[in-house]
Amino acid sequence: MIATNPLEIIVIGAGLIGPRHAEHVKKHPVAHLFGIIDPNPAAAEIASNLDTDYFPSISDLVQFCKTNELNLPDGAIVCTPNHTHVVISAELASYGIHLLVEKPLSSTPEQLAAIRDYAESKNVKLLVGHHRRFNPFIVETKKNIDKVGQLIALQGSWALKKPEDYFIKGLWRTDAKTGGGSLLINLVHDVDVLQYLIGPIERVYAEVLDKQRDHYPNADEGAVLTLRFKNGCCGTFICSDNVTSPFNFESGTGENPLIPFHDQLEGVYRIFGSKGTLSVPDLNLYHQPLEKEPSWNCPVERTPLVDNRFETLFSNMPFDLQLDHFVDVIRGKQEPSCSANDGMAALLCIEAIIKSIDTGLPQLVKQVDDIKPDFSCLGLEKLKNGSA
Ligand SMILES: NC(=O)c1ccc[n+]([C@@H]2O[C@H](COP(=O)([O-])OP(=O)(O)OC[C@H]3O[C@@H](n4cnc5c(N)ncnc54)[C@H](O)[C@@H]3O)[C@@H](O)[C@H]2O)c1
Repeated sequence: MIATNPLEIIVIGAGLIGPRHAEHVKKHPVAHLFGIIDPNPAAAEIASNLDTDYFPSISDLVQFCKTNELNLPDGAIVCTPNHTHVVISAELASYGIHLLVEKPLSSTPEQLAAIRDYAESKNVKLLVGHHRRFNPFIVETKKNIDKVGQLIALQGSWALKKPEDYFIKGLWRTDAKTGGGSLLINLVHDVDVLQYLIGPIERVYAEVLDKQRDHYPNADEGAVLTLRFKNGCCGTFICSDNVTSPFNFESGTGENPLIPFHDQLEGVYRIFGSKGTLSVPDLNLYHQPLEKEPSWNCPVERTPLVDNRFETLFSNMPFDLQLDHFVDVIRGKQEPSCSANDGMAALLCIEAIIKSIDTGLPQLVKQVDDIKPDFSCLGLEKLKNGSA
């Protein structure tokens, strides 16, 4: 058997999520953690605890590799504040380093189109970090969604309360200009999953929720939405990061170590169809006996889709599966399951939701193909002049 070298992966950003990615790289069978990049000197200790090298910047990494006659890493996982993703990704792409970029890939669709096209021009693979696509609860939902018959309606929520220190530790989260607010940070995940499961969203209407954190006037706390999908399915969705509630994806799936797991939670998403209703993450299918005409006179039965669902599902954590996929994408064995255009489709919905809030009117969601790239956002001039 021919042994293949491990893939070298660098993690950019050592805040809330970067070290979690780094832990997954460390325990991956064919990936190796090359180091951590973060300008905050406190990240040196995080790198040391992970037993890896620390670099304050991408230029420092490049210099280190030159000095030590090492190849640059094969791939990077970009885990920095939302508004920094594009410039950092462009610099990495300029060295041919493949990219897994946390969501949202950029703050605007025009910037997203620019990094998508630039990465392609450099033959750099680009995967967007909508890791819920790899969550076993979503994998099972996608596998079973046809059991509800024709998709008619959807009801969902992402509702919880963020603590104050979440904002104090990351001031970028307190301003929409730097990618803050629950729509850009959180709802974008649900929008991606719903489009992945149901299909493209065509029209949205949004009522913004009243603010309780008046000291952060520039970050939304959520909205109530109506959604119309292109296939005719319609939905309602509540997003709030400032209510007391377990009705959110993380509480129901236990996938985030910071958010306590509620093993009895049902109906975070309810997908209603002509023949049944699928409830997520409990993975119960509500249906009537096939031999009878469906009607309100007939009892609705509940059938669990997975036996021992927590044992089966917890053995497959989404970040590990996403990393397996990134490795395969780098090695050319798979195409990105969440491409730049998928990331763009989610971002375009968020843009339409924000416009609906601003205008008080329903909004059509723009098409990916209509977006013109804004290459000026990539900082390529600075890179050429060697001053990035
Ligand atoms: N997939 C998920 O479940 C998930 C969860 C949390 C966060 N995220 C996303 O991950 C990203 C990071 O979020 P976070 O909560 O970890 O943020 P954070 O503020 O906790 O951490 C960001 C880190 O990036 C560093 N940084 C800033 N500018 C940098 C630069 N130019 N180069 C290198 N490092 C830089 C900061 O010093 C900080 O340590 C965001 O895009 C967020 O939306 C995704």
